[in-house]
Amino acid sequence: MKRALIIVALLLPTSSFAEVRPEVYERACKLCHEFGVGSAPKPHDLNDWAPRLGKGMKTLINSVKHGKNSMPPGGMCVGCDDADYQGAIEYMSQRVE
Ligand code: HEC
Repeated sequence: MKRALIIVALLLPTSSFAEVRPEVYERACKLCHEFGVGSAPKPHDLNDWAPRLGKGMKTLINSVKHGKNSMPPGGMCVGCDDADYQGAIEYMSQRVE
């Protein structure tokens, strides 16, 4: 029974179950965000991220999907879905322990 519940959870639209996804960041976002290329908000820099997060996660995901100024549509990710973007955004906007 427990296993069935887990499978159901995995099949549901993922955005509400989003988890932090450093691997998406490493693969597709790091190139620009690591050093703030073109004024990209830097990872784990809460001052950079606070005003962005204030717009709401949905808006941020849309910015990545459609591109924003020097950020190309989709970041550099081929085949990422909303949950991947959200996971990468959550990773970048967190303080490192
Ligand atoms: C080619 C460089 C580049 C890549 C690759 C890139 N970004 Fe960005 N990103 C930027 C720049 C530049 C900005 C600042 C845009 C602005 O507000 O002018 C930005 C801004 C953002 C913002 C804030 C958007 C907003 O509405 O304020 C988010 C969220 C974001 N990036 C997420 C990502 C994610 C997630 C990835 C990887 C899947 C990614 N970016 C890949 C350059 C990049």
